[in-house]
Amino acid sequence: MTRTVIVLAAGEGKRMKSDLPKMLHPLLGRSLVGHVLAAAAPLGAERTLAVVGNRADQVTAHLAEIAPEVSTALQAQQNGTGHAVRIALAALGDVTGTVVVLNGDVPLLRPETLQALVAAHEKAGAAATVLGAEVPNPTGLGRLVRDSDGGLARIVEERDATPEQRAIREINAGIYAFDAAALRTALARLTTDNDQGEEYLTDVFALFVAQGSPVRVHLAADAAETLGCNDRAELASLRALLRDRINLDLMRSGVTIIDPATTWVDVTATVERDALLEPNVHLRGASSVASGAVVGPDVTLIDTTVGEQAQVVRAHAVQAEIGPTVSVGPYAYLRPGARIARKGKVGTFVEIKNASLGEGTKVPHLTYVGDATIGEHTNIGAGNLFANYSGTTKSHTTIGSHVKTSCDTTFVAPGTIGDGAYTAAGSVIGKDVPPGALAVARAHQRNIEGWVQRTRGGTASAEAAERALKEQAGEEG
Ligand code: UD1
Ligand code: CA
Repeated sequence: MTRTVIVLAAGEGKRMKSDLPKMLHPLLGRSLVGHVLAAAAPLGAERTLAVVGNRADQVTAHLAEIAPEVSTALQAQQNGTGHAVRIALAALGDVTGTVVVLNGDVPLLRPETLQALVAAHEKAGAAATVLGAEVPNPTGLGRLVRDSDGGLARIVEERDATPEQRAIREINAGIYAFDAAALRTALARLTTDNDQGEEYLTDVFALFVAQGSPVRVHLAADAAETLGCNDRAELASLRALLRDRINLDLMRSGVTIIDPATTWVDVTATVERDALLEPNVHLRGASSVASGAVVGPDVTLIDTTVGEQAQVVRAHAVQAEIGPTVSVGPYAYLRPGARIARKGKVGTFVEIKNASLGEGTKVPHLTYVGDATIGEHTNIGAGNLFANYSGTTKSHTTIGSHVKTSCDTTFVAPGTIGDGAYTAAGSVIGKDVPPGALAVARAHQRNIEGWVQRTRGGTASAEAAERALKEQAGEEG
């Protein structure tokens, strides 16, 4: 059967109190509307269309980025969900088969639930099927009103409901499957005879019932899947529910999570079995953690890969590659283009940007490495700096393998340090260093003897110096 998906995303989302359209608010790796589109993807719809209206430019631009195959139709005035679907069908032209309509703000909907709803709808040859759920608090939602045989009689909005209808706890999730031809006919007959003076999509159900066309309710096993998002408090609740769902899936797949309440993994990130996530870990975007790796506590990884058996402690990494058995942190910052090969180390108070470190290379303490290529088994001493920026241009530093740089070396880029070379502590390296050379680039030391006693006489320092000199003289004499 041909399937078409319509996502309703024209509403204002007033209660979010935001300059960002509601549908674009992020939730663990996708926007709200991105989650809905992801849930619908396995339906294999021939066409998917989003109805946009409020801040249509922003929503359209976002959709073009995340789902370029989705077309849009403009609903200039938000005259209701029925009006929105009418505009969608007009834009789609000749549509046959099944039309799936989804509110754009139901991000926890599972693809399996939607697939089961659509399959049951098509198998039954129904005119319309609605996703329902039994919820403890139905406030604000449309209620599913049953007839005496238990069939669906109609859907009534809370503001139009009688007190008895308000007591119903079975709600409309805003997710439906329709027979295309039946939907088109019913939409043409919608009125605005309700409290909001809008065309309600939900009214097509009573129209179908009146003409004897079969309608169905598909109940969601997990009512949380049907939760909408209307304000930031609901957004936070949805985020916590999704976090728990993701963490449960990960734990069931063999990942150890020490504290699931403080572990936030985007739906787009992956963690292999036997990885261990310590408390307060955030894995965002396309991040991945391989088997046996230990991440955390206190780590944020954005689009960053972590290899097998690596250890990452108290670190922030963006678009970085952390190789197998690498050790990162505590207190490290990996910026875009940081690539640390197997057995490497990035230690404490170290920042790495756009730089590759070869196998076994270590940068243990207090160092900035920017725009560099470093070979294998090289050791960068404490407090080294890569002076990569002239104020106008960035330049590259190349350091060979088995190099040992001493403390407080500054590399003024561009420059090349040969294999096996050493640098002396406190050197500012502005010239290339050949393989095997020791580069010394610092002023010679001069001791001005007796300076403290002469110019700081009577101070504790001067007295300490005098005592020490007397002792030395005694020993020598
Ligand atoms: C709707 C349902 C209600 C259901 C609830 C589930 C109707 C009349 N009511 O109510 O039964 O329980 O969803 O969350 O459908 N939209 C448009 N154009 C419009 C109006 C809305 O595109 O003119 C979009 C919104 O952006 C949103 C969706 O449709 O994605 C639902 O709109 P909303 O105003 O949130 O409907 P509810 O009043 O919550
Ligand atoms: Ca809503």
